[in-house]
Amino acid sequence: QVVPQSPALMEKGNYRHFMEKEIHDQPEGCQRTIAAYVDMVAGATTFEGVDLAGVERIQVVGCGTAYLAGLVGKYLIEPLADLPVDVDVASEFRYRQPALRENTLTIAISQSGETADTLAALRYCKDKGLQTAVVVNAQGSTMAREADVVWPIYCGPEIGVASTKAFTAQVSVLTALAVAAARARGRIDAAEEKRLVGVLVEAPRLIAESINLEEAVQGIAHEVSKARDVLYLGRGPMYPLALEGALKLKEISYIHAEGYAAGELKHGPIALVDEETPIVILAPYDSYFEKSASNMSEVMARGGQVVFITDPEGERHAPAGAKVVVTAPRCDPLIAPLVMSAPIQLLAYQVAVQKGADVDQPRNLAKSVTVE
Ligand code: G6P
Repeated sequence: QVVPQSPALMEKGNYRHFMEKEIHDQPEGCQRTIAAYVDMVAGATTFEGVDLAGVERIQVVGCGTAYLAGLVGKYLIEPLADLPVDVDVASEFRYRQPALRENTLTIAISQSGETADTLAALRYCKDKGLQTAVVVNAQGSTMAREADVVWPIYCGPEIGVASTKAFTAQVSVLTALAVAAARARGRIDAAEEKRLVGVLVEAPRLIAESINLEEAVQGIAHEVSKARDVLYLGRGPMYPLALEGALKLKEISYIHAEGYAAGELKHGPIALVDEETPIVILAPYDSYFEKSASNMSEVMARGGQVVFITDPEGERHAPAGAKVVVTAPRCDPLIAPLVMSAPIQLLAYQVAVQKGADVDQPRNLAKSVTVE
């Protein structure tokens, strides 16, 4: 497959910013990426270059949003494939003398393939004799040249400094990898693999539906733009997504935002909650829902303004009193991180637009950090 480099992908078209365009590019970017890792006719995953049955541990390294994509991957791969996954911020990993074991597969995740710390972490693992793979957008990059195995994403060039379509494409690869590893390790049979491939193939359509929530998100953006602090809470795979939502908001709107595992609420962040604090809770109607809903009640009891991002079932079961409910389409838990990404990206984007910030070139940030 060829990475699309057409001029159309490098232009904003009718969009105000590259970030807005790239949010809208996601159904197509994920569709192309997923197509590279599944055989739709056979209903099977296709990962080349690695004997997944022989892998005993996965070590993910990345920075920023790429690191958070890796964290989503951990939440998908471990339960499905019963395979331990460690995820490290690359700048920490390379210096903390990690205890590595053989038959560990290193997966570097990097949009640019040039981030200094991620590249150094990749080289570190290679030097230790581990097999290395890279999930990368820039196929001609240093990491793509140096890794043993290259697993490209096919979302096209990403121009906005805040990563959006690369994130969902990275998560798409890791979701397919979770299914492939589960099959290779005998944790699921061919019929279940086929079912899960069917679920994954549905993701781009559901992501598109999720992007249509733009108006629902718009309704709350003005309010959020006036906040000093914003909290993001989630459980399970929604926890790394909460981290990503907070990262996106602080990057482009300069509002202080923190993502937390919802279960940690009482261990600190609840102290920040008052009438002025928007709290974004990510909670599709899954096995974690009841607990997230009870966190929602707790913050509302303290005056917190809840932005509840859920699905139709969750909307029916949610406690009353949220400031706004954003209802994403219902989906299989396997693809919930993909489907729930657009609302948090749109929220960050619209808040930044409200504030008149330079969305595509936020102050002090670079698209690719090639020095330490
Ligand atoms: C910078 C960018 C982020 C990106 C991170 C990692 O901080 O602003 O959007 O997630 O670098 O970049 P990479 O190219 O390695 O994915």
